Amino acid sequence: MQLTCVGIQQETADVVSFLFLADQPVDFIPGQFISLMVSIEGQTASRAYSISSLPGDSRLRLTIKRVPVGRVSNYLLDTIRIGDRLEALSPAGEFHSQAAGNNPWLLLAAGCGVTPLFSMLKARLAEQFDADICLLCSVRSELDRIFFRELTQLAAHYPNFRLHWLDDSAGECLDMTSLAALVDDVAERSVMICGPQGYMDAARDMVTRSGANNVHTEAFQPPEREQVVSGNNGFTLSVGDMRLPIAEGQTVLESLEQGGVPILAACRSGICGSCKCQGEAERVERLSTVGLSAEEIEQGYFLACSARAIGDMTVVVNR
Ligand SMILES: Cc1cc2nc3c(=O)[nH]c(=O)nc-3n(C[C@H](O)[C@H](O)[C@H](O)COP(=O)(O)OP(=O)(O)OC[C@H]3O[C@@H](n4cnc5c(N)ncnc54)[C@H](O)[C@@H]3O)c2cc1C
Ligand code: FES
Repeated sequence: MQLTCVGIQQETADVVSFLFLADQPVDFIPGQFISLMVSIEGQTASRAYSISSLPGDSRLRLTIKRVPVGRVSNYLLDTIRIGDRLEALSPAGEFHSQAAGNNPWLLLAAGCGVTPLFSMLKARLAEQFDADICLLCSVRSELDRIFFRELTQLAAHYPNFRLHWLDDSAGECLDMTSLAALVDDVAERSVMICGPQGYMDAARDMVTRSGANNVHTEAFQPPEREQVVSGNNGFTLSVGDMRLPIAEGQTVLESLEQGGVPILAACRSGICGSCKCQGEAERVERLSTVGLSAEEIEQGYFLACSARAIGDMTVVVNR
């Protein structure tokens, strides 16, 4: 799918929303993401970005934070201008409004983690005027409040939508005390959490201790993994004419990248499907099968970022 940039909005000092027109209808559930592909210095790179607009909006919106020394976020913020075109994959992801269901919602966001929650929130309010939703947004400072104006307007318009900012610089943070003071019925709510891993782990722990049992999280970064042990694990990947050694503990994606094989990998967490490859079914250990059908698994398809070779394997890389 091709996206043409038709608008750019500065949200905060380091966060920008890009508005796109797609060359085909984009079908998604609020909360899902899209993978963008960009060419930087002749190399294709892909990254996942949550859709912050609604299904049916005339323009698709992605809200992107500049990550220090981040390859793709800096490229996008510094380079993309109105009229530019980008290649994108179809929307994907399991963190969405259908997973949250029809209970009252508690949405917990830190920083840029508000993007998927914002789409879910707006969609639910558009469907149900009196939806009972509480959004707690943790920010580093007042200047980092993404979607501040839009959220304030929603809170003023919808009777049962409550919005609270927890401002780090003012000593406010999400803990058991602030949670209990702001939300007295956590156990009755579906909880959707998005933010840095440490925030999500702590938030999940708090809401679970408060009795919530429908809790979902979305990580923007792959989980920290043990350092790959160098040295060959004894197996080899064959890709076309290349023979690549596999280091102990390495994923197939890491072996391919180390060998210089071009491969898309937008999330590196086994959720977006962009790194799908095919090999011999019995020689691959899959750590995630999200988005793969039973038939594809039988045919040897796997997600390279979330798979290890457990034998010599011939890999066909999807491009
Ligand atoms: C499902 C999903 C949805 C996402 N939605 C959004 C979104 O709506 N908006 C958005 O801005 N990003 C989002 N991301 C993150 C995005 O895909 C990229 O990871 C991010 O833009 C950094 O890419 P980069 O190429 O600039 O950094 P890289 O070059 O990949 O990384 C550079 C360094 O920054 C660290 N890093 C990577 N990502 C982050 C981060 N998010 N915060 C802090 N440090 C980081 C890396 O560990 C590395 O050390 C999402 C990711 C996923 C998996
Ligand atoms: S990179 Fe997203 S599933 Fe592998």
